[in-house]
Amino acid sequence: AKTHTITLLPGDGIGDEIMDATVKVLEAVASRFDLSLAMTSALMGGAAIDATGEPLPAATLDQCRASDAVLLACIGGYKWDDLPRATRPETGLLALRKQLGLFANLRPAKSFAQLEGASSLKDEVVNGVDLMVVRELTGGVYFGTPKGIDTDPSTGARVGYSNMIYHDYEVQRIARVAMDIAMKRNKAVVSVDKANVLEVSQLWREEVIKVAADYPEVDLSHMYVDNAAMQLVRWPKQFDVMVTGNLFGDVLSDCASMLVGSLGMLPSASLGDGSGPGVFEPVHGSAPDIAGQDKANPVACVLSAAMMLRYALAETDAADAVEAAVEAVLNAGWRTGDIMSDGKTLVGCKRMGELLVEAVSAGGK
Ligand code: NAD
Ligand code: IPM
Ligand code: MN
Repeated sequence: AKTHTITLLPGDGIGDEIMDATVKVLEAVASRFDLSLAMTSALMGGAAIDATGEPLPAATLDQCRASDAVLLACIGGYKWDDLPRATRPETGLLALRKQLGLFANLRPAKSFAQLEGASSLKDEVVNGVDLMVVRELTGGVYFGTPKGIDTDPSTGARVGYSNMIYHDYEVQRIARVAMDIAMKRNKAVVSVDKANVLEVSQLWREEVIKVAADYPEVDLSHMYVDNAAMQLVRWPKQFDVMVTGNLFGDVLSDCASMLVGSLGMLPSASLGDGSGPGVFEPVHGSAPDIAGQDKANPVACVLSAAMMLRYALAETDAADAVEAAVEAVLNAGWRTGDIMSDGKTLVGCKRMGELLVEAVSAGGK
């Protein structure tokens, strides 16, 4: 079999714990399907700052570029929160996405029948939710200039500013990604913006409408972001594909995680034009409040690995098997603390990983 090269970026906080569990699941699936996975870790985020002074060392970026895919756990933590912006862990993550041209972040939120009772929302609201947030990832207010913290010379007041800016081609390419995904789903796209107030959103909406002309079968509608946040918790089943800018997508995808029951369940894929590797990463962060306590849910990272197998490595059977293993373990009643409910059995991150390995290895087919 062809060898797939994978760079692993465990990062910070719960990163080591969830990555350990995920690598074992990947090894099990590789053994079951006779895949050859060459997995090598590299430094990223706070761990890289401690070792090299930089959140994204050149050696890490080079190794990522030379790989077929990158699997990232999570970065960041209190220890690095007061560093200058340029050397913070988060800046390294933004640089990784930008350098690899990963403008499209796919964040699926699909409810698990097994997790009934885990969400803080009513079961009738969340049962059967299956939506995809398509978040623009290399533009918008995250990257716009000018930005900074200065002193206003006329008043002496301190000013902080970030510029939300989109170019037409940035909107067009993410809109195409959303439309293409919708064509394989229920052919409905809601574009989320703030076009009633922001010029940048007005341009966003105009460009999305232009792209939609090439997709006559797709039902495109528009929603202001404040309403979208409300609709997401009021009746999420109205959504199929949501396409939105970098910041709105960040906020709405964390919100969507609670439809599934926990941020610890949500995977994502960060993709570009296909000329380089994608980065597969949980939606959640480094969860410093539970790091090092064997409490983290490894499923978001494991499902990100499944997205990697599917989208980057074209190992569909292996991807299916990993997803089936997650369902089997949930079916059997095993739960980490974040998805715990009455009558279920609480396990830690490590044990959850072992159970997933057993399920992958046992899986019929
Ligand atoms: P967070 O996502 O790390 O945590 C939010 C809450 O969700 C916490 O209570 C945490 O315990 C819980 N949680 C998250 N993942 C979990 C999991 N797998 N299992 C169980 N519970 C989980 O967000 P935060 O606390 O706002 O940020 C912490 C750090 O993570 C910050 O430094 C932030 O910049 C960074 N961050 C990184 C990423 C990333 O690496 N992609 C994403 C978001 C935040
Ligand atoms: C995410 C995170 C990142 C983002 C941060 C850590 C830079 O919140 O992946 O959702 O805002 O994109
Ligand atoms: Mn986020």
